[in-house]
Amino acid sequence: MDWGMKNRMSRIIQPDTGRAVMLALDHGYFLGPTHRLEDPRETITPLIPYADTIMLTRGVLRTSVDPEANTNVVLRVSGGTSIVGPHLENEGITTTFEEAIRLNVAGVGLSVFIGTEYERQTLLGLSELVNQGEKYGIPVLGITAVGKELEKRDSRYLSLCCRICAELGAHIVKTYYCEDFEKVTASCPAPIVIAGGPKLETELDVFKMTYDAINKGAVGVDMGRNIWQHDHPIAMIRAIRGVVHENMKPKEAHELFIDIKQGKVT
Ligand code: 5RP
Repeated sequence: MDWGMKNRMSRIIQPDTGRAVMLALDHGYFLGPTHRLEDPRETITPLIPYADTIMLTRGVLRTSVDPEANTNVVLRVSGGTSIVGPHLENEGITTTFEEAIRLNVAGVGLSVFIGTEYERQTLLGLSELVNQGEKYGIPVLGITAVGKELEKRDSRYLSLCCRICAELGAHIVKTYYCEDFEKVTASCPAPIVIAGGPKLETELDVFKMTYDAINKGAVGVDMGRNIWQHDHPIAMIRAIRGVVHENMKPKEAHELFIDIKQGKVT
């Protein structure tokens, strides 16, 4: 791996733990003003110190994140469709590599929609990004999107998707946690991070999912709603960091969450 690629990978997957806490903030690119991300700056600013990387679009990066903020960016570079349009999966590449370089990103990310009529175009999009990423030393995050079909999240389908992303050269793959998740990680030669999905019922559920994912081979999370839709987002992300970077058990992470929430830990 070339120096630039290695350097950027180490901004995403922390070399001291081999793990990653990515904060996903890109939801507006197809959902518009998502609940609790209506004012991106307000949501993002207090969380920046606790995320290894923030994942978002160039529009929100430029308008809502200070360039002086000490953070690493994974830029969402796919889109072009919306939740109210006819085909959410009909995404293309929205942002050039020159732009990604100008924004000094640690990586770029794109969704693939495998099993839909748009799989070819989204997979060729991923391949094109990898070609450019290899040229400029910028890692590519392949995201195994399911659109509105959340029920697709099983190990057979996600193994297929993750493996295809890795085969096409994705440097990191983002997918969902599922039953038999170890099968997904075992057959994917690229490191995997998990999305959180829609907000879970309890904090403990989030810590359990994170813990199980890590123990079954994920290198971390690229999580959004289960952090910033929570009433105590800082306590959530700090407890998730505990699981990811310090191998905390779900119960320990929950205790840390409570202590931070109650101001017993600053
Ligand atoms: C959408 C995405 C989101 O970033 C992803 O779903 C992570 O956010 P959440 O934890 O809220 O699911 O990639 O395609």
